[in-house]
Amino acid sequence: MEKRESFSSRLGFILISAGCAIGLGNVWRFPYITGKYGGAAFVVIYLISLVILGLPIMVMEFSVGRASRRSAARSFHVLEPKNTKWHLLSYPAMAGNYLLMMFYTTVAGWMLAYIVKMLRGEFTGLTPDEVGGVFNEMLAQPGPMTFWMVVVVLVCFGICGMGLQNGVERITKVMMVALFFILILLCIRSVTLPGAGEGIRFYLVPDFGKIEEYGWFEVVYAAMGQSFFTLSLGIGAMAIFGSYISRDHALTGESVRICCLDTTVALLSGLVIFPACFAFNVNPGEGPGLVFVTLPNIFNQMAGGRIFGALFFLFMSFAALSTVIAVFENIISFGIDLFGWTRTKSTLVNLVLILILSLPCVFGFNVLSGFAPLGEGTTIQDLEDFIVSNNLLPLGSVGYLLFCTSRYGWGWKNFIQEADAGKGLKFPKWARWYVTYILPLIVLFILVMSYIQKFGA
Ligand code: ALA
Repeated sequence: MEKRESFSSRLGFILISAGCAIGLGNVWRFPYITGKYGGAAFVVIYLISLVILGLPIMVMEFSVGRASRRSAARSFHVLEPKNTKWHLLSYPAMAGNYLLMMFYTTVAGWMLAYIVKMLRGEFTGLTPDEVGGVFNEMLAQPGPMTFWMVVVVLVCFGICGMGLQNGVERITKVMMVALFFILILLCIRSVTLPGAGEGIRFYLVPDFGKIEEYGWFEVVYAAMGQSFFTLSLGIGAMAIFGSYISRDHALTGESVRICCLDTTVALLSGLVIFPACFAFNVNPGEGPGLVFVTLPNIFNQMAGGRIFGALFFLFMSFAALSTVIAVFENIISFGIDLFGWTRTKSTLVNLVLILILSLPCVFGFNVLSGFAPLGEGTTIQDLEDFIVSNNLLPLGSVGYLLFCTSRYGWGWKNFIQEADAGKGLKFPKWARWYVTYILPLIVLFILVMSYIQKFGA
């Protein structure tokens, strides 16, 4: 077996983990659900969820990764007490990484396609309906969508194939720094548009009346689900990066940094989108089409819109690709950890596998659009997203919680020793009862209620 690699710097670890977290969840999902649930009031609930739900679970994932020096495929095997079955958790974790990529590669491909469309001025002079038509036309054609999905898969596996330091770390660092620069530029452009003030108020001044419209439960549930998704928690996607670092820094401090970066990008993405929506009088509660339908309309009306539009989709692409690279790194390490493959072999095998596995999502919008797995109007992508976001992420998170707190698992003592090793912020001791008894129940409650809400009468 090859010697296990490690990151070349602490910054590399933080930026790659942030890259894994920062993705479509921040730049696509966060703005549209915030728009739907009424802006600032939702943001407040989301921030609370991040701290009480997301953060402790992230620390646990990193601890399991760092102590075992393995990916989710083997970490439970290494740490579990003899004759226990915790290693069964590795299967849903691995499945989660594959399933996430089965639809993520397609949406990342849409982002790349939109950079080109913007640069070529394909939206110039179109009416809002026609702009919507461009998106629907793209979905209706399996050829171009497959092409962009293949580009995403080849580029990202290509980067991972170059090695952990030379490929994943080097390229993701550049991408994340560029992402922050473009984001700040877009923010300045958006908040200085005439009429942007209304959007800023919608986004930053809480109006809890909006929440009553949908009901507290639905809103809180959406915020909690978003906090799992945005931090890629529960499937070991983060744990792997813990396996590549030294014990110099305590993991709570590192997790806080990563959460802050992730949250900054989500909040600033809203600050790009909402002021622009209000400045041009368009509804920010559009749903998933917000980015692909509403925003091109805005860029159409904006001075310099073609360039800002292209930059916007470049920013989106960096966010998406950094997540794809991070999750591919996980997927490649499954092959290395399980079968002793070389990085090159695991990259090639998984490249073919992911290309094939990504096709159902692409075809779900066209040739297989008659298949509506979750009810009328739903697609294969919705099914894959549902399996991951509503099931594997929360269930896997409960798995990590129990593994790290139960005396029948890895246990509190081992967990806290690993989490607190090194300099920096330690895991608060008083939180033990909370993460042991309350947090797993909260997550299970969310899970059950989401089923009732989705499939109940
Ligand atoms: N954490 C990833 C995202 O936010 C999955 O898109």
